[in-house]
Amino acid sequence: MLKVDHLDIFYGKTQALWDVSLRVEEKKIVSMVGANEAGKTTLLNAVCGLLRPGSGSMEFMGRRIDGLAPDNIVQMGVSYVPESGKPFVEMTVAENLEMGAYPNPSWKRRKETLERVYGLFPVLRARAKQLARTLSGGERQMLAMGRSLMANPRLCMLDEPSYGLAPLMVKELFKFILMLNQQGISILLVEQNIYHALEIADRAYLLENGRITLEGHRDLFLNNDHVRKAYLGL
Ligand SMILES: Nc1ncnc2c1ncn2[C@@H]1O[C@H](COP(=O)(O)OP(=O)(O)O)[C@@H](O)[C@H]1O
Ligand SMILES: [Mg+2]
Repeated sequence: MLKVDHLDIFYGKTQALWDVSLRVEEKKIVSMVGANEAGKTTLLNAVCGLLRPGSGSMEFMGRRIDGLAPDNIVQMGVSYVPESGKPFVEMTVAENLEMGAYPNPSWKRRKETLERVYGLFPVLRARAKQLARTLSGGERQMLAMGRSLMANPRLCMLDEPSYGLAPLMVKELFKFILMLNQQGISILLVEQNIYHALEIADRAYLLENGRITLEGHRDLFLNNDHVRKAYLGL
């Protein structure tokens, strides 16, 4: 459903991504793993229209999306959970969720979607009237995922959702990602936390210094000497 082909991205004259190609198939979980500064956030920003490609092409559901504005891409069914969730801290949990339904077609269905989100994340219902500022790191991530669900996405892109969370919370969070996927939503997950990201992935890509250096089934990664030494500490 998402096809990225031969993507080059520049910040001014500095190139951040080189010839990146990737696929996310319908209802699958694809993980993009790589160290800090590898270019993971850059890739997600490009897919959602925040960065213009220097060259290459991107398609979602058979339609070209490179060159479209971010809100058009959201309306097509792509949602983006940025690093650290970034809630509107002076708004309540419920108000933050409602903001997520802003793309027009989702607005009419927001009440029923909200019930679905509260069903998935009971803690958000319990905290509905609290300011987002009062939430823990893990709760903020759930809020960010809940907010992205409010737009009824077909593809959800998550940028390092486990960053800064305690190990128990990380486990919990990855269970929620699986639950999103079981709702029929495709996932493009970007992570430094390679082990968990591979555990839930149907397929994965390794991004190193702006280039894809490995792609395939997670077993290929778990059995790869370079990955084991450099990323898994085995
Ligand atoms: N806004 C920016 N302007 C200039 N360079 C940037 C900008 N954002 C990221 N970069 C550079 O692009 C490279 C990839 O960064 P990023 O995509 O944030 O990596 P990751 O998310 O994998 O940590 C890094 O070298 C980073 O310094
Ligand atoms: Mg990043």
